[in-house]
Amino acid sequence: PRIAIIVVAAGSGTRLGAGAPKALVGIGARSILHRALGNVFAAPSAQVVVVAPAGHEGEALTEARDAAPDRADLVTVVTGGASRQASVAAGLAALWGDVEIVLVHDAARALTPADVFERIVAAVAAGSAAVVPVLPVVDTLKRVSGGVVAGAVDRDELAAAQTPQGFRRDVLETAYRVADDEYTDDAALVAAAGHRVDTVRGDERAFKITTPADLERAARLVADGGE
Ligand code: C5P
Repeated sequence: PRIAIIVVAAGSGTRLGAGAPKALVGIGARSILHRALGNVFAAPSAQVVVVAPAGHEGEALTEARDAAPDRADLVTVVTGGASRQASVAAGLAALWGDVEIVLVHDAARALTPADVFERIVAAVAAGSAAVVPVLPVVDTLKRVSGGVVAGAVDRDELAAAQTPQGFRRDVLETAYRVADDEYTDDAALVAAAGHRVDTVRGDERAFKITTPADLERAARLVADGGE
């Protein structure tokens, strides 16, 4: 099946406080977007849609060409929207006609290894309509009300959801067409449209870079890997 990966990179990065759109902030010598695309291109795909911050489309294309010079013809750059959901919708509108499987990935999860992409693609190719990578929750969780512990939460029932999330194209497109609310991720939007969402194992390195501490962690991981 033909696979497209939509990489949403249009966030402002306010919480990172770097004074530039988050995807263009550096982890060491390379931008978050460059690092993310390096891993995206390591997985098999027919089309890569980069959803860029308005006014930064040219830089996004340069980063994509830099990350994979021989695969630049796979890349489509579109302008993002005001919310992540609007940005994914912009990416969906740019899909080529013959794409059957769509992965949606946060550029901010820049160090996500290629094998997570492979697990997601394998699950959709084997028949899942929707698949998300998850990790077990390690912290002890409490329900808190007004500053007081109101109860324990059974963490065996909980998981942390990551990206890339993978979908049958028709399922994701229809779910976006009928969505009448803002959802926290694509899996929630697709679940609201009535679909079962399956899971595969995520990866610690797929954490989302949100704060300066996350950026430091990413820089350390990249330095340890000799990059
Ligand atoms: O803001 P947050 O870190 O949750 O964003 C997750 C991903 O969604 C990031 O890769 C960010 O660039 C992207 N995003 C987007 N358009 C927005 C907001 C976020 O593409 N309007």
